[in-house]
Amino acid sequence: MKKVFIKSYGCQMNVYDAERMADVLAPQGYVETATADNADLVILNTCHIREKAAEKVYSELGRLRLLKSERAAEGKATSVVVAGCVAQAEGAEITRRAPVVDLVVGPQSYHRLPALLARSGNGAKVVDTEFPAEDKFDHLPAAPRAVTKARGVSAFLTVQEGCDKFCTFCVVPYTRGAEVSRPFAKILAEAERLADAGVREITLIGQNVNAYHGEGPDGSAWTLGRLLERLSTVPGIARLRYTTSHPRDMDAALIAAHRDLPTLMPYLHLPVQSGSDRILAAMNRQHTGDDYRRIIEATRAARPDIALSSDFIVGFPGESDADFADTMRLVREIGFASAYSFKYSPRPGTPAAEHEAQVPEMVKAERLAELQAALDASRRAFNQATVGIVTDVLVERHGRHDGQLAGKSPYLQAVQFDGQDAAIGDIVAVEIMEAGPNSLFGRPLAGATVRDGVAAL
Ligand code: 5AD
Ligand code: SF4
Repeated sequence: MKKVFIKSYGCQMNVYDAERMADVLAPQGYVETATADNADLVILNTCHIREKAAEKVYSELGRLRLLKSERAAEGKATSVVVAGCVAQAEGAEITRRAPVVDLVVGPQSYHRLPALLARSGNGAKVVDTEFPAEDKFDHLPAAPRAVTKARGVSAFLTVQEGCDKFCTFCVVPYTRGAEVSRPFAKILAEAERLADAGVREITLIGQNVNAYHGEGPDGSAWTLGRLLERLSTVPGIARLRYTTSHPRDMDAALIAAHRDLPTLMPYLHLPVQSGSDRILAAMNRQHTGDDYRRIIEATRAARPDIALSSDFIVGFPGESDADFADTMRLVREIGFASAYSFKYSPRPGTPAAEHEAQVPEMVKAERLAELQAALDASRRAFNQATVGIVTDVLVERHGRHDGQLAGKSPYLQAVQFDGQDAAIGDIVAVEIMEAGPNSLFGRPLAGATVRDGVAAL
């Protein structure tokens, strides 16, 4: 038995990829461990989206250098791998700057990990950042049932990867490559396998998930709406979600799915980035603030209780006070249930990084604080509005106290309640009693536990 420690940074795609790396290494005798200290193999699964992500990786590698030499003194070898988007972006530069690294592997080559590891080590450096013609998913093994079970009742499933949109701030089209959707049959088979292992909720993921397109079993062209409709019939799957979407790809079929599919959860993460048309154009988002408002209106007409979430960037080059005021106005108008917001961070190789009118750090910090205060108030108002309602909770784990269970509402809120009668994986009708800063507290309705299907309220 050898031990592998995988540390993931960044998005859900990296979480999913980390599991696939563990799956491809399992037949080689590797079991996962929770710390680097006792690991024979350490994989840093990196993110390149913002800030000095690469710098963080180098300081982590500094710590691993010490660990590697301590273990070497005890006669133990440690392989160090850099995977993910920093690996893709920096390639051989990593092995030059950090000799502790044995292998640099980009996200399209994880299926080759065992072969690459065999070639590396003992001073041999290997770098693989190719975008191979073959589909890596064809070569990645499925996790054994027990492993999938241990990973919990909520799972990610990649349906597409990469992006062709080229927003001017974003590295994704360079690190993850062009948009590629997985074949329908593969997605269905994976969903069925997850359901068979006890998974109740599947979140379809992709950098641009609603750009998913493929040939359906009927031979016609399918988009995400049709895919969700088909997956909603997989026995055992009670909940479907998807993330992350682009406003341009919110087509009528996807909006209708929010009206028609009870298994599709009333939650939409739809990044808008800015409320200013001038900035949206400079970002190459290919939509205006009003386009976004219209999409939200249509989605709310389809599913009135839908919880909305978004991503924002403040201090994009050229952003004026008036532009930022437009963002604040949009935030107040929409009423987001949750959101992520960031200071613009110039990414090497992206068009916006070359822009002359970079916004001073101080201004970015002020705008971020103002935006986050508004988003925070909006989130608290949303949570407060759910106090008193009865809602389904998918039980994911035991809570901190005896007899306490913790799970998620359809709106992706964390909910805790006392529920001796329910088990992990059950869906329980819970009356929300109180909204805390990070989670809601509720009480289960008598006899409302449902094991197969959605709780009938
Ligand atoms: N600077 C700041 N935020 C960024 N994002 C992507 N690129 C950058 C950047 N260069 C944010 C966007 C995106 C989210 C995943 O990360 O808001 O939606
Ligand atoms: Fe990046 Fe998303 Fe724009 Fe694609 S759509 S370039 S992933 S921000």
